[in-house]
Amino acid sequence: MKKEKKTIFIETYGCQMNFSDSEIVASILKDDNYSIGQDYKSADIILINTCSIRDNAEQRVRKRLKEFNSLKKKKPRLIIGILGCMAERLKEQLLEEEKAVDLISGPDSYRNLPELLRTAFEGKKAVNVLLSLEETYADISPVRYDSNGINAFISIMRGCENFCSYCVVPGTRGKERSRNPETIIREARELYHSGFRDITLLGQNVNSYSFTENEQLTDFPDLVKAVALVNPLLRVRFATSHPKDLSEKLIDTILAHENICRSIHLPIQSGSSKMLKLMNRKYTREDYMLRIESIKNKILDCSISTDIIAGFCSETEEDHKDTLSLMEWAQYEYAFMFKYSERPGTLAAKKLPDDVPEEIKARRLKEIIDLQQKLSLQSNKKDIGKVFEVLIEGVSKRSKEHLFGRNSQNKVVVFPANGQKPGEYIKIKVTHCTTATLMGEIY
Ligand code: 5AD
Ligand code: SF4
Repeated sequence: MKKEKKTIFIETYGCQMNFSDSEIVASILKDDNYSIGQDYKSADIILINTCSIRDNAEQRVRKRLKEFNSLKKKKPRLIIGILGCMAERLKEQLLEEEKAVDLISGPDSYRNLPELLRTAFEGKKAVNVLLSLEETYADISPVRYDSNGINAFISIMRGCENFCSYCVVPGTRGKERSRNPETIIREARELYHSGFRDITLLGQNVNSYSFTENEQLTDFPDLVKAVALVNPLLRVRFATSHPKDLSEKLIDTILAHENICRSIHLPIQSGSSKMLKLMNRKYTREDYMLRIESIKNKILDCSISTDIIAGFCSETEEDHKDTLSLMEWAQYEYAFMFKYSERPGTLAAKKLPDDVPEEIKARRLKEIIDLQQKLSLQSNKKDIGKVFEVLIEGVSKRSKEHLFGRNSQNKVVVFPANGQKPGEYIKIKVTHCTTATLMGEIY
């Protein structure tokens, strides 16, 4: 007997990897005769794909659960599931704390979701938080259910074994494993043929991508090259690179292929070597500077972005100033900036007191953000008068008469519409800018 189709609403928090995982979840559940809905109020099942990286990420989910809980009072048959890092970190404890939750599934157990849902529909709590040494979901074609049809992410590896002392990820996503390159290239080809033009290869630490089969090793530069060769009209990006192993080979590979984007996300975290040591980042300020110099000497038009943590354990005013001076030196185009948030179970939580007072963390973060605003504006101003090839992504949010897209450097460019369509490339001459956007005219 054909079973009635139930609708699932998936809400995703956190990083790009989580958004990519939600597309895998959608694929697994569609194959099990569920449909993916756009409105949580009419869904039979709500799945929240969660993030644990900072405490406020978890608090947002807790708040959202309160709303879903009141919906469940009106709709008692509604199933609520927690996926992702919070599921992995808190396991059964979440069932105790959040009475509305019926299902818990960690990042490596999504193939088991159909089974878990059946258990939940029988009125029993369903939990699978086993981490795997092999799972890469290599054979699953993600369902791009919330896509603009131009940009797509491909997960190339899972897990992380760097054990940065502040980070919860090694505990929630387990051992590092790389996906078979053939399946990645096949996915890139399929995306290209479906009209996608900008692909981001995703991993916690893409530079340690490594896959060996029949004594044939594919490293990260080999993989990026193979994806770039799918078609010159397909742009290739990647995130995130760890400074300790961004290789010369990768820099040379980017240089050799115009469609590998001139934009590298290279998180520094702190400009103080003392902090970097406590963070277990395995590089010094000077090592990092040499990496940036090497990139900038070879790829003249490369943009660099970063992640920064303010107020890590025992950070002094001098350490903080080291971060500010490093930012000035690197002239970052963009940065993701955070206050340190102690995470249970991490090396830092076990060994280092979270001793920078909240007001000092906040003030340092503000100084970092203010400086980055200045640097972003400076960098954008330098682009005035330059001509960029822009991949059009859609209509500008501010004006229907304008389109927007991005250049190879990952900057958003807005220009007057003149019959062009998303997915096309167009040359734009930059005429003016704000901190976040370049504005220009068709060249
Ligand atoms: N507190 C604050 N920021 C963190 N990040 C990771 N863990 C923490 C934490 N405990 C930041 C890092 C990382 C980014 C994804 O999140 O900057 O690069
Ligand atoms: Fe966390 Fe460091 Fe791994 Fe990034 S590289 S996920 S910060 S442990």
